[in-house]
Amino acid sequence: MPVNRPTSINENMEFESWRAWQKESGILGNSEPVRRMLETIAQVAATDISVLISGESGTGKELVARAVHLRSKRHDAPLITVNCGAIPEGILESELFGHEKGSFTGAIGPRKGYFELADTGSIFLDEIGELPTSIQVKLLRVLENREFLRVGGSELHKVNVRFIAATNRDLEQEVHKGNFREDLFYRLNAIHIHVPALRERREDIPLLAKKFAADFCRENLIEFEGFTEDALFRMQDYHWPGNIRELKNIVEQMIVLERGRQITEHGLEKYIKFQDPMDKRLPVPLQKPRDEVEKEFLIRVLLEIKSEIAQLRELIMAGSTNHYRLGAWRGELTEDIQDVEDFYNNNEQDKSVADMEREMIRSTLIKSGWNKRKAAKILGLSERTLYRKINQYRLRDDDF
Ligand SMILES: Nc1ncnc2c1ncn2[C@@H]1O[C@H](COP(=O)(O)OP(=O)(O)OP(=O)(O)O)[C@@H](O)[C@H]1O
Ligand SMILES: [Mg+2]
Repeated sequence: MPVNRPTSINENMEFESWRAWQKESGILGNSEPVRRMLETIAQVAATDISVLISGESGTGKELVARAVHLRSKRHDAPLITVNCGAIPEGILESELFGHEKGSFTGAIGPRKGYFELADTGSIFLDEIGELPTSIQVKLLRVLENREFLRVGGSELHKVNVRFIAATNRDLEQEVHKGNFREDLFYRLNAIHIHVPALRERREDIPLLAKKFAADFCRENLIEFEGFTEDALFRMQDYHWPGNIRELKNIVEQMIVLERGRQITEHGLEKYIKFQDPMDKRLPVPLQKPRDEVEKEFLIRVLLEIKSEIAQLRELIMAGSTNHYRLGAWRGELTEDIQDVEDFYNNNEQDKSVADMEREMIRSTLIKSGWNKRKAAKILGLSERTLYRKINQYRLRDDDF
C-alpha cells in the first residue's frame, strides 16, 4: 500500500512524504523541474481527469504514467499499457475494444480488449501520436461517453477507466498537420505534464548515475569503485539525446567494461561522445533563472568565437613565414577576421562584453577551485587562451 497519499489536490507535501513519494514513484531527482512535475502528479492523480504526458524519448514518461495511476484512488485496479505504435493497424481496433466470435477469420471466440481489462483502473496509451485516424474517432467516443462496441458486435459496452496518454511528438503540430484529431487532442490534454529532458536538469545527473550504478552492482553482485568527482562533473557536460535511458545504459556499460574499476573523467571519453560543440557551452550553470542561463550561453559562444579568432590569427602569423601553406586566400581571411574583431572590439557594447567575459571567467575559476585546466574546459577555451585572459583581466586567486 503506497504511503502518505494526499487526499486533497491542494495539499502541500511535507518533506518526509515528499521523499517517500519519490521512492514510491521511482522518479528520482531534486531539480526544480522534477519537483514541480512530482507535485503536479500528486495534485492531479487523485482526480479522474485525463492526463497527456509529453517529453523526449527516455525521459521517464512511462514512470510518470505509473506514478499517476499509483497515486490515484484506482491504484488497486489494473493499469493497462497499450503501445499504440507497436500494434499493427489491422488488429489495433480488436486489441483495444475486443471482438465477437466470427467477426473476422481467426476470431474463434469472443475476446475482451484492453479497455475491458482496464475497467475500474487506468489505461495508458503510450505513443498516442502513432494512432491511425480511423481509431482516433473510436477512441474519442470512449473518452466522451465511456462506451464502445467490440469489433463485430452490436452491444454497447460501458467502461470506467482513467485515461493517461504519452507522446514524444509535438501533438499540437500533428493537429496542425492534420495527422491528429483536434477534438481528441483537447480531450486527452485536460492536464498536460511535460517531462523535462535530462539536459534541462543536469544537476540530477550525479544522483542518477550513482543510483543506477548502485542498483546494477547490487543486482549483478559487482564490486564497483565508484566515480571520481571530476567524472560526475564532466557527465553534466554531455547533452544526453537519449536522456535517462542513455545515462542508465552508459553507466551499466562502463561498469561492465571497466570491470568495476573507478570511472574517471578521462575514462568517460571512451563511452561518451563529447565532440558536439554544444557540450562545451552547456551546461550553463545550474539553478539559475532562464534569462541568466541564456546570457551565459551567449557569452560562451562569444568567447568561443573570440578564441577561434585568436587561434586563427596565431595560425596566420605562423603562416606568414610559411606562405605556401596558407596560399592565396590568406589576405582575404585576415580581412574577414579583422571585420569580426573590429565588431567586438570597437562596438559600443565592447566594454560590457569584456566585463561579462571577465565575470564569466572569474566565476568559472572560483567554481573550479582555480583549477585552470577544468575552467578552460568548461569555458571552451584553450588553456593558453585562458592564461592570457587571466593576465589581461588581472585575475588573481587571492582576490576572492
Ligand atoms: N526520474 C527518473 N528516475 C529514475 N529512473 C528514471 C527516471 N526517469 C526515467 N528513468 C528510467 O529511464 C528509463 C527510460 O524511462 P521511460 O521508459 O519511462 O522513458 P520514456 O519517456 O517512456 O521513453 P520512450 O519515449 O522512449 O518510451 C527507464 O529505465 C526508467 O526507469
Ligand atoms: Mg515509453
